Amino acid sequence: MRAVQILGLAAALACGAAASQAAVAPASASPLRLCADPANLPFSSSTADPAAPGLYVEIGSAVAQALGRPLHTVWSLSIFGKRNLRTTLLAGQCDLAVGLPAEAGFMGPRLIFTQPILQLGYALVLPPDSPARSIDDLKGLRVAVQFGSPPQGLLAARSDITSVTAMDPEEAMRRLAAGEADAAFLWGASAGYINRVLLNERYRLVPVQGPQLQFQAAIGLSNKQPGLRDEVDAVLPALAPRIRELSAKYAVTAGAPVVLAAAGSQQLALAEALASPAAAATADARRVDPGKGKEIFNSTCAHCHGPSGVVEDRKINLRRLQLKYGEQLEETYFTTVNGGRPSKGMPAWKEVFTHQDLSDILGYLRTIQEK
Ligand code: HEC
Repeated sequence: MRAVQILGLAAALACGAAASQAAVAPASASPLRLCADPANLPFSSSTADPAAPGLYVEIGSAVAQALGRPLHTVWSLSIFGKRNLRTTLLAGQCDLAVGLPAEAGFMGPRLIFTQPILQLGYALVLPPDSPARSIDDLKGLRVAVQFGSPPQGLLAARSDITSVTAMDPEEAMRRLAAGEADAAFLWGASAGYINRVLLNERYRLVPVQGPQLQFQAAIGLSNKQPGLRDEVDAVLPALAPRIRELSAKYAVTAGAPVVLAAAGSQQLALAEALASPAAAATADARRVDPGKGKEIFNSTCAHCHGPSGVVEDRKINLRRLQLKYGEQLEETYFTTVNGGRPSKGMPAWKEVFTHQDLSDILGYLRTIQEK
């Protein structure tokens, strides 16, 4: 599962609590290596205020401290994509990844989990004076949802609720704040964080229970580290109050979810249908994001293909793909980036980037084609 992310939120956390410092560990203790996404607030950020590096980084830091080891953060884009986990956590690049869905089926036996540490899920975002207590109370209202998310599917089945569809939680919250919607139904962690840093806690969040709406998050490790897993499990109970405190600091909502059954059996059936792997994959899919593609291109591909694709040598000039391949462009692109052309010096990227990342790069390349 790729958790819904807030991208491009530069605002610092308006919260006074100081970050916990890793304990001064004995020089002999080897660092505990935490894999984290550098741009996934409220969970982790490599560029945020050091006093608020993100919920998962602070949980990792608390675990390291409890184990008497220094924390070392290994930054990896889209860490929670399965391919990325294969090349980081499962390849021994790091020891822990905080916040993975604790489901046996998530990635097979190579990934093992601690006990759950957090519950994450979708929530209703309501004005403080709203009397709404369940989905049924949204009748007649305009409700902002994220495109492709389970709430969008749920509300699509209701003729008495108008959906206002947004591409990401930030846009949905902006539309709500601008009066284009009366309420929102969004990934709670994102909505809570935006509500805090951009909207001064204007709204009230109510988590919603239902299939594909709530997840237990745990700490994931490679199955080569069962001993470390047991050590972490042993310190987690004592860390529970700290984790609650940190969740509050980052406005990641806790609290008893409202029961979706109030929405009627038809909706429940739909939610169950959404829980099927195929539907979940659809719900996970983001649209192509050329901006993100450009970022990846310029940090990884530009070494050989030139910054923003500008390069002399025609053989590696990716601005000529359209001229060269025409209708075969997409097929040639994916064959080449997935498998590489090892004999020519083009690496294979299949194990490095998710299909979504590679699609984003293609989306960017389409914007710079020569005519
Ligand atoms: C280490 C150098 C290197 C890096 C890094 C690299 N490439 Fe390449 N790439 C090459 C070379 C060399 C070729 C030309 C192979 C040939 O002559 O057939 C190539 C060819 C390609 C082609 C086919 C071009 C054509 O005209 O047929 C595509 C598409 C491509 N690269 C995409 C990427 C993307 C996307 C990335 C980043 C994820 C990337 N490359 C990173 C070296 C690199």
